[in-house]
Amino acid sequence: MTLDISKIRNDFPILNQQVYNKPLVYLDSAASSQKPLQVLKKEEQLHLEYYGNIHRGAHFLADKATVEFEGVRDLVQDFINASSREEIVFTKGTTESINLVASSFGDAFVTEGDEIIISEMEHHANIVPWQLLAQRKGATIKVLPFLDSGELQIEKLDELITEKTKLISVAHVSNVLGTVNPIKKIIKQAHESGVKVLIDGAQAVKHMAVDVLDLDADFYVFSAHKMYGPNGVGVLYGKKEILEQMPPYQGGGEMISEVKFGGTTFNELPYKFEAGTPNISSVIAFGEAIKYLQNLGIKEVTAYENKLLGYATEKLQQIPGMIIYGTHHCKTGVITFNIDGIHSFDLGTMLDKMGIAVRTGRLCADPVMDHYKVQSTVRISFAVYNTTEEVDIFVEALKKLVVMLA
Ligand SMILES: Cc1ncc(COP(=O)(O)O)c(C=O)c1O
Repeated sequence: MTLDISKIRNDFPILNQQVYNKPLVYLDSAASSQKPLQVLKKEEQLHLEYYGNIHRGAHFLADKATVEFEGVRDLVQDFINASSREEIVFTKGTTESINLVASSFGDAFVTEGDEIIISEMEHHANIVPWQLLAQRKGATIKVLPFLDSGELQIEKLDELITEKTKLISVAHVSNVLGTVNPIKKIIKQAHESGVKVLIDGAQAVKHMAVDVLDLDADFYVFSAHKMYGPNGVGVLYGKKEILEQMPPYQGGGEMISEVKFGGTTFNELPYKFEAGTPNISSVIAFGEAIKYLQNLGIKEVTAYENKLLGYATEKLQQIPGMIIYGTHHCKTGVITFNIDGIHSFDLGTMLDKMGIAVRTGRLCADPVMDHYKVQSTVRISFAVYNTTEEVDIFVEALKKLVVMLA
C-alpha cells in the first residue's frame, strides 16, 4: 500500500502555513517532529473530560486517566515487541532514560577499573551520562570509531571488549550521519562476552520497525517527541531480570511499596523507576502517536522516507562544493552537510528567511564534528509528511544561496 502524503499532511495543520510569506518547509524532524491532530486532540480531550492524577485516585476521573495511561504502556510494549509491560518505564525522554541506566545500572554493576564502550558517533546524551558514571566510579570510557563514510568499525569491538567491559551503549541511528548501525550484530558479540547493551533508539523509532526481542537488546531508549508524540515523555525498555536487579533511580511517591522511618520497600516494576506524578497528559497523547504510526504501517513509512532520502541525496550531490557527512548505504532520516566556502549559520539563517527550517551547528555531537574537523554543519531531516516537492524547493533555494554567498 502506498501512502497518501497529501492526506497525511492534512493531519499536521502546523505544516500548512507561511513563514516570512513563504510556504513552510519543515526539514527539522530529527530535532523534533510535528504532531498529528489525533495526538493534539487526545491531550485536549483528557484535560476537558477526565484529567486526574493516576494510580492514586478513588474517583472516576483518576480511574479513567489511569486506565488510559496504563493502556499506553501496553501500546509501547506491542510497538517494540517487549515481552512484558513491566519492562516499559516512562521517563522524560531519551536523555533521562540513559541517565537512569547510567545511574542505577552503574550503581549496581560498575566498579573501579570497569569499562564502558560507546561509539564515536553518539549524541551528547549518550556520552556525558557515562562520563559522569566513570568519574564517580573510577571506570573508563572506550570509544568505537567510525569510518569517514559513517560506518562503525565494528571489527574493532574484538579488541575493545575485555573482561572489564560492563556495558556497550550505541545509537541505533546516528542523528548526524543517519547511519543505521548493525546493532543486532553488536548485541550478539557483546553477549558472547557477557556484556550488556543499551541502544539509543531516539532517531530510529519513527523510521523503522523495532523488535527488542529479536534484537535481544538489554536496554532500548527513545523519546516520544521524535516520533510524532508530545515532548517531555520517553521510554526506557529494559529486560525484566536486569531492571529487577537495579536500584531505584529517584525516590518519592509511586515508587515505594511501604515507607517507614526505619526503612522503605520499593514498588514492583515498572513503578520502582517512576517516582512522582508522571507527565500524564503527554503519555496518554503519546499513545495516539503510536497508533498513528501503526495505522500508516511502519514498513510503508520506511520505504517512503528512504525514497525521499535517496531523491534528496542525488539532488544535493549536484550542488557545487557540497560535502555530505555520512554516505553509508545503510542510512536513514537525515542529511548533514556543508558547502565549501559558506558558513553553515549563514545558510541556516537565509534558508529560514526562505521558509525552510533546517538545523545548523554541532548537532549535539562534538566528537562527530571533530572527526570531520568541522566547526558546524547544516542538517536536513525527514518525516513521513515531507515531499519531493519540498526537497525541490530546498535544493533550488540552496542553489540560489550558493550563487549569493560563495
Ligand atoms: C541519537 C539521539 N540520542 C539522544 C537524543 C536526546 O533526546 P532527548 O532530547 O529527547 O532526550 C537525541 C536528540 O536529538 C538524539 O538524536
